[in-house]
Order: sequence, then C-alpha cells, then structure tokens
Amino acid sequence: MKKTLLTAAAALVCAGLGAQNRPNLLTVDAAAEGIPIQKTMYGQFFEDINFAADGGLYAEKVMNRSFEYDNNLQGWKTFGKVRLMDDGPFKNNPHYVRISYSGHPVRKTGLENGGIFGMGVEAGKEYRFSVWARTSGKAKKERVTVMLCNPTADIDPQSFCTETLVVDSPEWKKYELTLVPGMTDPKASLRIILNPEDSSSSLDLEHISLFPAETFNNDDNGLRKDIAEVLAEMKPGILRFPGGCIVEGATLDTRYQWKKTVGPVENRPINENRWIYDQGNRMFPDYYQSGGLGFYEYFRFAEEVGAEPLPVLSCGIACQFENDMSIPGNMVPLDELQPYIDDALDLIEFANGSVKSKWGKVRAEMGHPAPFNLKYLAVGNENWTMEYVNRLAAFKKAINKKYPEIKIVGSSGPFASGEWFDELWPEMRKLGVDLVDEHFYSWEGFYENNADRYDNYPRNGSKVFAGEYACHGSDGKKYNHFNAALVEAAFMTGFERNADVVYMTSYAPLLSHVEGWQWRPDLIWFDNLNVMRSCSYYVQKIYSTNKGTRSVPLTMDGRPVANKEGQHQLCASSVIDDVTGEIIIKIANLSNYSQEINLNIKGAAELMSCQLTTLHSDNPVAENTIEDPYQVVPVESTIDLTRKATEENSLGMRKASDGSPILTDRIGPRTFAMYKFSTR
Ligand code: AHR
Repeated sequence: MKKTLLTAAAALVCAGLGAQNRPNLLTVDAAAEGIPIQKTMYGQFFEDINFAADGGLYAEKVMNRSFEYDNNLQGWKTFGKVRLMDDGPFKNNPHYVRISYSGHPVRKTGLENGGIFGMGVEAGKEYRFSVWARTSGKAKKERVTVMLCNPTADIDPQSFCTETLVVDSPEWKKYELTLVPGMTDPKASLRIILNPEDSSSSLDLEHISLFPAETFNNDDNGLRKDIAEVLAEMKPGILRFPGGCIVEGATLDTRYQWKKTVGPVENRPINENRWIYDQGNRMFPDYYQSGGLGFYEYFRFAEEVGAEPLPVLSCGIACQFENDMSIPGNMVPLDELQPYIDDALDLIEFANGSVKSKWGKVRAEMGHPAPFNLKYLAVGNENWTMEYVNRLAAFKKAINKKYPEIKIVGSSGPFASGEWFDELWPEMRKLGVDLVDEHFYSWEGFYENNADRYDNYPRNGSKVFAGEYACHGSDGKKYNHFNAALVEAAFMTGFERNADVVYMTSYAPLLSHVEGWQWRPDLIWFDNLNVMRSCSYYVQKIYSTNKGTRSVPLTMDGRPVANKEGQHQLCASSVIDDVTGEIIIKIANLSNYSQEINLNIKGAAELMSCQLTTLHSDNPVAENTIEDPYQVVPVESTIDLTRKATEENSLGMRKASDGSPILTDRIGPRTFAMYKFSTR
C-alpha cells in the first residue's frame, strides 16, 4: 500500500534550527568507510521439523510412497486383495504392493492414500501421477482407475477426476498420467482401483507418486511453488540445511546421512524423523523423511534463490539433548570417526568436484555437471563438551588439508550464554574455525536489551553465525505475534552495526505445517493450499532485501543506538548500498509512545527521495494466520523531502549547522521503521 506522508506545514529553511534542542538526534556518518556487510548476512535455516519437507516444501503429495515406513502400509487404506511384497526393483526400498482380483466381480481391490494431512489440489491444475508397475497375473495388460476423491466429504468423485492407467508389461516400468481435478480441495485423497481383465488379474505397484505439474522453477522432483516463492522473496544470503537436531538424529543410526539422499528418488531410503516423538500431544508417529528433498535438491534450491549453501553434518554424536553420552553407541569413538570425516570430504567432492570424480559424477548424473561452488560446511549442530571439540578438530584437520578453501562452522552449544557457551567459544577460537554458530531462543527482554550483544566481541578470529534465533513470548504465548517481531527487529540492528563480527544470521525454525508443528514460533506457516508470512517474516525480509553493502556509524549523543539509558527505547542501525547509492536507516521504537526522530545524514551526496516502510500493530499480540494472513504487514509510503521544517516542533527537512540535511519525522509507538534515502 502506498500513501504520501503528511508532514507539518512548513515554509522556510532555517539553517541549524534548534537541532540540539530536539530529541533523538540520530547522526549517520555516510562518509565513513564503514564495515562491509557480508552477502551471507541474512539467510535461511531449513530443517525438516513441523513437516517442513515431506508435507511441506517438497511437492510430493503421497505419504509413504514406497511402503517403507515401519508400518509398511501407514498412510494407505487398502480394500480387496492387497498383499505387501518385499522383493521390489529398488534395493533400498524393497517393499511394494500386489493388488489382485478379489475373487468376486463386484468386490473391488485397490488402495487409497490420504497424503500428509490430506492432499491439497486445485481445480484446473495438472497433477503428475506416476507409479512403477508390472503385471503379475496372466493377462498381458491390466487397467487401473486412478482418481482423486474426498472420502470424508459428500462430494461426487466426478467433481474431481478419474483416469485409466494401462500397465502393459510383466517387467517393472514407470508409468505416468496427468490428473486435472474439477474442484479445489485441501483434503483430497488418491485412490487406485484394479479393473481386472480376468480372474488371474494381478498387478504390482511401487513408488506411487503425485506431484503438481507446476513446481518451483518447474523442476522435476521439485518444490511446492507457493512456499518456495515466499522463501525466494527473502533473497536469502545463505541456506543452512538440513538441520538442526535431525542432523544429529535421536540415535546415531537415524542421523541425517546425505549420501542416502542423492541419486534416483526411488532408491533413497527413508529415515525416521528426529521430531517423530517429540512432545506427547504433538507427536506424529508417521513422521519420516522420504529423502526426496535431499542434498542435491537443497544445493539446487540454494542456487536458484542465490544463497550460499551451508550443509551441516553429524560430528559423530547423537542428539546430546536426548541422550546420555556415557551410554555406548551415542558417541562414535575418536578412532572410529573416519567414515564420518569421509562423508564430509565426499560431500565437498559431490558439490564441487569434477564430473570425473566419484561424487562429482553422481551430481552430474543427477543433472548438474557444473559445480555448486560450496564454500561453507558446518560440523555438528548443537554439540558441546570437549568430546565435540575433539571430534571437530579431527574433521577440521582433514578438511583443511584437502580443501583449504572451505570455511568451517563450529557450534557454541544450545544456548548463547552459560557454562557450555563460555567453554566452547575459546575452544573454537583455538581451533581457528571460521564461524561459530550461536543459538538463542529467548524471551522479549533478551532481544530488547541485547542489541549491543556484539559490540564488545573480539574483532579478529572466528566470526559469528547467529544460526538459530527467535523471540519466544514470556507469557507462554509462543506464537508469531507482532511484539516478538518488533523486538527481533530491534536486536537485529546490532547485527548490522557489528557486521565485522556477525557474518551470518538465520531465524529458526523456518517452516511449519499448521496441522503438524512440533515447535513454534516459526517464520512461515502453511496448510495444504496456502502460505502465511508471519510478522517476523516481514522483519527478516526487510533486513535481508535492504542489507546494503556496508554498515556506517549511526549514533545518538555519540553512542550507538541500542536501547540504552537516555535513548528513549530506540534501537537503530544504518547501511549504505554502494550499488544503488541508497542510505538505509532501520529504527525500532520499543516505547509505548510516538517519538520525534531527527535523522542527520552527514557526508552524503544530495538526498533525492525517501521511502518509508513501517511495521506496526496497535495490538502487541496480533498475529497473521492462514485465515487472516495480512493483519500485520509492512506499509510503504514516500516522504516528501521538499517539505521544510521551520519550527521547533514541525516535521520535514532542515539543515544542521554544518549544512548537512536533517529529516525530522515521528515514529509511532512500538514501530519498526526503515528510511531508505536515494542519492541518485
Ligand atoms: O530450530 C529447532 C531446533 O532448535 C533445532 O533443531 C535445534 O538445533 C535447536 O535446538
């Protein structure tokens, strides 16, 4: 929404008018050399939590498509004569179903899949059904009816779509057809019914899949377009994946193993999701990782959105939160760590190696002969104790030796302060890791009072990756309310001011299915058909798409503006974009009152125009929802820089005694505002 900001009436320029008497004089030194802002500064952390992958970003609609969940028929309803078989064509996924004539012409045989919380389908859109099949009776051909339906609603199947698939070989083959539903339904099911040729009729079905024909960038085995587009809008500088705790696994054997997630999807083995049993009331015993969204797809997505890929690998320790490390099996002995280290070396080869190398060849065969240009690798997620440090040291030695150009990210444990944190940071420095990953899920007060967190960090050595953070409400309402987003915005001014220390940041978690979450707040919520951007999303996007190229000093009374005494609950930062010539000032007003602010920009070329973006709600606990997604959204307006401020209390432009311009404006109570001045 665009509107023109009304400023107070003014007529004359009055040089130096009462600047020192006005409150909140924020001085930007635009002539300063400043600190380069890393391209990686604002990124995304993707973890398969809250059904973010299968049932979320990964566009596949069928649950348990290869019949490999612990309960092989989980997600499926069968009727008639259906048998589970285990000698299928794909080594890592040997199960499939045999559907046969029921013994009576009236009785049907078939199966039905309800998707993950239902299948969202839209009227008139194309869906690609595929299946590996073979005839297993005497008939040369078998026919199946493939349909979309909603067995729980009173809807005539005619309203959806019904097609016939002919299977014409006793050898395994992939068959495809297109389904175009006549209606939109968030909770459709896929039904397959055998139309027997004769009494010997029998058909084998494996890897039953349903994808929207349209995916992000129309990739095969692609991503849900609407969710991926919302991610892409943020223009992330990094993409950290695949976790989080799922990297570690609840047990070592269920840790994330990237090699199992590349190659043909039909042969990628499933893995139990670390979040399957997390909380009693939010546990989902059907939460598995199909591996369909695997490392190739992550690299490709990072490339498509222009982010640096940042894979995280297991360091050989199962989730430390869940496990007793003294129990054998939860930690790989140091002298048995080599296979884990090899996984890291092989991953670098997979990403960057020549097509003639073993793993580079795999990448090329998957469709990407060009390297992915991997630059960063994280070893361990939330690990701590010297056992972690020793394992990381072994990884680092091997990686540095073979790939000295790869930058290594180490962990500072699960909390961003305290005993573990204090022990780990010096160890990380000693090891010389390039970045240290900090995690902080804290209450409002932490974010309000710590915008200066990084002001006194050492300027040399390992840099900070604020890899997981989000404001969790102190009132127990841990959603994505406006106030949480506001205090995050205030805290983030400290990232920008300290861009020589903070090189990467990412909010967490990123995605959540409204019916399948284990953890909240989350940045982006979705159901089977819709995506919702939280208030925090807008803060992240404003920062990420306006990060500039260098951070320049912004001070009030000679001090950084970080909600300190006498600073009227303001936090602020300023950056310059040398490509566009813009000067960008971000201010969070944490007070409950509207305040005058005076932006004095020194050393800049002439200010040509100013775009104002604000994020505000009168209700601190207002939140966007799937049903009402635009309750709190950024509002854009243009500030008329030709208006002159002439009186002590008027708004508009005037000049400081040195002739530099001052914009006087008012910032509303509990408001995040961004002023973007163009100089060209
Ligand atoms: O972001 C959710 C979880 O929080 C991550 O998996 C883990 O790293 C942290 O504890």
